[in-house]
Amino acid sequence: MKHRVGFIGYGEMGGGYHWEVMKDRSDVCDDLAPVAVYDVRQSRRELAAQRGMKAYDNVEDFLASDDFDVVVVACANNFHCEMTCRALRAGKHVVCEKPAAMSPEEFSEMIRVSEETGKFLFIHQNRRFDRDFMIVKHAYDTGRFGKLYNIESNFCGGTLFGWRAFRDHAGGILYDWGVHLIDQIVYMMNEPVKTVYADMRYEKNKDADDRTTVEMTFESGVKARVTVSGSFLAPLPRWSVYGEKGTLWIDELYGDSGTFRYSTDSHWEELPADVYGPQGAYVRNQERLSENLTRVSYPDDGFAPPQDWAAFLYKNIFDTIDGKAEMIVTHEQVMTTLKVIEAAFKSSEASRPVDIV
Ligand SMILES: NC(=O)c1ccc[n+]([C@@H]2O[C@H](COP(=O)([O-])OP(=O)(O)OC[C@H]3O[C@@H](n4cnc5c(N)ncnc54)[C@H](O)[C@@H]3O)[C@@H](O)[C@H]2O)c1
Repeated sequence: MKHRVGFIGYGEMGGGYHWEVMKDRSDVCDDLAPVAVYDVRQSRRELAAQRGMKAYDNVEDFLASDDFDVVVVACANNFHCEMTCRALRAGKHVVCEKPAAMSPEEFSEMIRVSEETGKFLFIHQNRRFDRDFMIVKHAYDTGRFGKLYNIESNFCGGTLFGWRAFRDHAGGILYDWGVHLIDQIVYMMNEPVKTVYADMRYEKNKDADDRTTVEMTFESGVKARVTVSGSFLAPLPRWSVYGEKGTLWIDELYGDSGTFRYSTDSHWEELPADVYGPQGAYVRNQERLSENLTRVSYPDDGFAPPQDWAAFLYKNIFDTIDGKAEMIVTHEQVMTTLKVIEAAFKSSEASRPVDIV
């Protein structure tokens, strides 16, 4: 079906990734084109005009246009709620960048306006389709870990420039990168988060966090620890996931494969201390773990994750608008992630775990 797209915010994402998809990807929607831009910066409006789009310097005239039915909200985070609600009320479907909002309350308002107007609200959590994450999710979904114990997910290398350096603009490494890493795990686990414990540091940036660790405990008891940082000199491993049957490491963001270590033992048996003696049992246990350890490059079962956010997320967005699919990034998942982030700020301030209600 035919869809025309307008942008609120035409910076790196709006004028880069989103624009590229809208102009080039007939595979995600057979009749698609970017046609209009509203941006407060003149240079970005000029770029849009050079690309043949209509550029607006005020949101009222932009939203009054009938030239487009879908709006991409890709401005600074603190305007997501206001711009999304205005676009929905103007009768447009909205694709809003992450983080969806500055708080769970703001996101509730966005959902309410979407329901009231009957227009779709999509949140662009595109990193659910990163190869490294798809490999971890595949291992989890196919039962490779057995009983899952712990997830560690790290990203090092975020930079806090421009509005990203200010908390009031929803700057900070947790909103910027943490939101992706938390969303991935919330999506994969598909169960409620019970408590959050966070340690947020302000090392180079005094206004917005630049090194943060968030630990989530899920209803089943699985713990997931997410670390995002802009200040480590050497990156942490991207993923370490531990289960009863084995452990998966993936070193790099966008990694094509990881290492899965598992035991050929089918179950764990305590060695009797009265036979081996306490020290002997310890030594024999170590030998047994080494003897039975197997390392494989993973995936080893033919799974090959593609790397194409648009083919998954944007295809789903247009198919949902056209009544052919259900939204992949659900409002419930996005709300959980925003509640985790809100709890992380409270936890770090109070230096104690915070329950998610
Ligand atoms: N999903 C991802 O992988 C990903 C990656 C980068 C950024 N983002 C998100 O995309 C959004 C934009 O990030 P960016 O990197 O493009 O930032 P950017 O600073 O490059 O661009 C933002 C643009 O919005 C404009 N703008 C700001 N406030 C506005 C307002 N009130 N009305 C109209 N225009 C306004 C600015 O002039 C600028 O051109 C952010 O929400 C960010 O978190 C997502």
